[in-house]
Amino acid sequence: MKLFDTHAHYNDEDYDTDREALFEAMRAAGVAHVTNIAVDMETSRINDLYTKQYDFMYGTVGVFPTDVAELEEPGAYAELEQLLLNNEKLVAVGEIGLDYHYDEIDKPLQQKHFEGQMELARRAKKPIVIHSRDAARDTADIMKSCRAEEIGGVMHCYSYTKEMAREFLDMGFFFGIGGVVTFKNAKKLKEAVDFIPLSNIVLETDAPYLTPEPFRGKRNRSDHLTYVVSEIARIKGITEEEVCSVTYNNACKLYGK
Ligand code: NI
Repeated sequence: MKLFDTHAHYNDEDYDTDREALFEAMRAAGVAHVTNIAVDMETSRINDLYTKQYDFMYGTVGVFPTDVAELEEPGAYAELEQLLLNNEKLVAVGEIGLDYHYDEIDKPLQQKHFEGQMELARRAKKPIVIHSRDAARDTADIMKSCRAEEIGGVMHCYSYTKEMAREFLDMGFFFGIGGVVTFKNAKKLKEAVDFIPLSNIVLETDAPYLTPEPFRGKRNRSDHLTYVVSEIARIKGITEEEVCSVTYNNACKLYGK
């Protein structure tokens, strides 16, 4: 089976002791590609290096909703745009979006830079990787007002209802499904996965986080996607081979590869 992990964070210090050995083991286990996802200016620069260092790796540039104050610095957007222009393995802008989970958040600032980074993606002709937590309505509304259907991209770690899924599907978006779908209490997500056509699903780990059963709580790794594949196959009543091959092709389409 050939796997494409569309969302991981291998710059995390959890991998500092064995990154190279782990990558070799993952590759041997069928992981063909990983897209490493930026969350701030520093990880955007790291992805420029990683994508040059590791053949199988793609990367993104972008700033996470709770860190968008970084984008108020002069030259920040220009630096991200330069990275995208000069490295074709930087395949998307993300993860960007809205996160209303925490008490002390500046909603207008998050919204301003969600829009700003969508416009960056539009100029660079790249898709977007969206992080949205406790902000379903505002996320869909801002995407519509920015005509996100012309930009395209993925709803990372999809966690909303199947009714909301309809709205993102109508904009042609993919849905990143990961370890959470294997959790026994993930009833709402299992329903959404049943509802979303396989043609709009991509696999993601969010490594080192969100490790699937039976390894929940431990450090995640891209070859654990096989557990996610099994659960999607079970929910949809199709074979694991079909889940693998269709999601692999979807990931290539998402990232223009
Ligand atoms: Ni992530």
